[in-house]
Amino acid sequence: MNRYLDHNATCPPVRASLDAMVRAAQEASGNPSSLHWAGRAARRVIDDARDAVAHYVGSESGSVVFSSGGTESDNIAIHSVLSSCMPGRIVTTAIEHPAILKPLQKFVASQPVDAGWQLVQVRPDEHGCVAAEKMIEAMTADTRLVCMMLVNNESGVVQPVEAVAAHCRNASVPLLVDAVQALGKVNINFTELNVDFLSLSAHKIGGPKGVGALLVRRGTKVEELAPGGGQERGRRSGTENVPAIAGFSAALGAIDFAALSPIRDAFEVQLLAQFPGAEVIGAKAQRLANTSLVLLPNMDGETMLMQLDLDGFAVASGSACSSGKREASHVLLAMGLSDMRARSSLRVSFGPDNSIDDALALVTALVKIRKRLKGMAGCAA
Ligand SMILES: Cc1ncc(COP(=O)(O)O)c(C=O)c1O
Repeated sequence: MNRYLDHNATCPPVRASLDAMVRAAQEASGNPSSLHWAGRAARRVIDDARDAVAHYVGSESGSVVFSSGGTESDNIAIHSVLSSCMPGRIVTTAIEHPAILKPLQKFVASQPVDAGWQLVQVRPDEHGCVAAEKMIEAMTADTRLVCMMLVNNESGVVQPVEAVAAHCRNASVPLLVDAVQALGKVNINFTELNVDFLSLSAHKIGGPKGVGALLVRRGTKVEELAPGGGQERGRRSGTENVPAIAGFSAALGAIDFAALSPIRDAFEVQLLAQFPGAEVIGAKAQRLANTSLVLLPNMDGETMLMQLDLDGFAVASGSACSSGKREASHVLLAMGLSDMRARSSLRVSFGPDNSIDDALALVTALVKIRKRLKGMAGCAA
């Protein structure tokens, strides 16, 4: 029996989203830029979806720029700010998704060393939370951009973006909030948050992959990444993916992630009972109801993941693969964990099709795996 417990990686599409995609593909197959009836039908689908996304996150429809997902939204915002400003400081957290960290690092590396660019990555505390005060302290008079995620994708820990946003506003420093992992799981109000940019992705909430949105404060300049036909009011060129956009809007609010906490809690209680020394990351912080990032002493996350896969469980380990080399989670390392402890992590993220039975079965499987691995090299458990 296969059990999918990796919803933070991607959430299988919900029925309403699939239906909306098929409907849009069949009934709105014109090019939304065409002026004839077929184009107008496709344009209507996009307009409705734009209104729905805007309404869901408390913004104006004009703020919503549809993109290919979180990665592109983050990159558009970063490019928009950095392509035309004076050299200075960029402040972000050490626990951002690579969709933020990589473009920032690449940008700074591409500039002359003496140009005056500086990238500051603020570290989280031991609970996985980056203090607003530390972000604010890191900001100097020459800070050109601040990037801070609303929820961390590995730990599910909610970050204090509100306080940072208020400070950025007062200091007139652009703030990009990566809310990809927050959408549908914590309340987002773009207008109240009063930030310049906010990134969203559809596939984390049961919508299709390859579509998302960048919310842009009214009056904020957007510099296209790939200039072309001038779609999305010149902010993101390329013929819009109408079915995907329809599927995105239909997925909004379709999953009640908050209702998953009993499953998550059952998993953690049982795991801690079966594995002395196990630890739940962010247990004392405000975190997502569906996410459990755990450390299992003397167990290797990657090995657990592969063994669990053989037993039909799909979960994630914190590690990332880069150029064939497995690296420990940068989030856990930034929290001060040793490389070995960071490698003992497993991320379980529950979704609407999961039950407490799945959570308990996962612990039972882990107990069996521990037994199986006993005596094997690299596992002292
Ligand atoms: C926090 C965060 N930002 C950005 C992304 C990238 O989003 P997408 O897969 O839509 O490009 C992800 C996806 O895992 C994420 O978790």
